[in-house]
Amino acid sequence: MQVFIIGATGGVGRRLRRRLVNAGHQVAGTHRRDSQKEQLETDGVTPVNIDLMNTSSERLAAAMQGSDIVVFSAGAGGAGVDLTDGIDGRGARFAAEAARLAGINRFLLVSAFPDAGRGKAPSPGFEHYMQVKKQADVMLAATPLDWVILRPGTLVNEAGTGKVRTGLAIPYGTVPRDDVAAVLHALVEQPEVKRVIIELTAGEQDASEAVAAMAAFSGR
Ligand SMILES: NC(=O)c1ccc[n+]([C@@H]2O[C@H](COP(=O)([O-])OP(=O)(O)OC[C@H]3O[C@@H](n4cnc5c(N)ncnc54)[C@H](OP(=O)(O)O)[C@@H]3O)[C@@H](O)[C@H]2O)c1
Repeated sequence: MQVFIIGATGGVGRRLRRRLVNAGHQVAGTHRRDSQKEQLETDGVTPVNIDLMNTSSERLAAAMQGSDIVVFSAGAGGAGVDLTDGIDGRGARFAAEAARLAGINRFLLVSAFPDAGRGKAPSPGFEHYMQVKKQADVMLAATPLDWVILRPGTLVNEAGTGKVRTGLAIPYGTVPRDDVAAVLHALVEQPEVKRVIIELTAGEQDASEAVAAMAAFSGR
């Protein structure tokens, strides 16, 4: 499979690109800095220099051409309203439009768990982030693409266990970035899981089996 990762240098994207290359997939990934280009090449990934704050659907489409699937795991990481709008919001929309222009049907979006932040003091920046993430979900769900929206709980850097919980609606929790990458990897390899929103936390089920179980809820 030829996979195009937007956000390939991030915590999730880095783990995903390595998993996919190790599994024999051809991977291209976006970066912004020269030092990241070398790291991507070392990992066997084709580097693509794209800044989502300064791109277009057409430019992204040209870069994606020939890919079988797009994974969007970029994010502003709470760096402010404008960057959140530009990366998590407009960037996701550009990417979905680009996939359509490039004739790529399958699109995986890393979104956010709806209960994140509950029980904490409300912060305008986080509220805005959650709104933008939801708007990106709404945008993607309205496309004819074979999308999957993945809503992980709070991401942690502890080593993954390979065991997760997935479902249409599950209790809120955390999940290691390793295991988010494992689930995305499984989604790349299980195209029958599509047009479904998946909530994800750490759990008891093997990541590949947890993804396979979501086929029963998949749309046409
Ligand atoms: N943190 C959480 O608890 C949590 C929970 C649920 C969902 N999420 C979502 O999960 C996804 C992955 O999270 P993560 O921890 O892997 O994030 P991360 O480590 O902050 O990585 C973000 C990625 O986005 C890229 N990016 C940032 N600005 C960009 C721009 N202007 N143009 C192009 N790429 C840009 C980064 O590139 P650089 O390396 O160049 O900065 C990096 O590859 C994000 O969408 C996040 O919103 C996070």
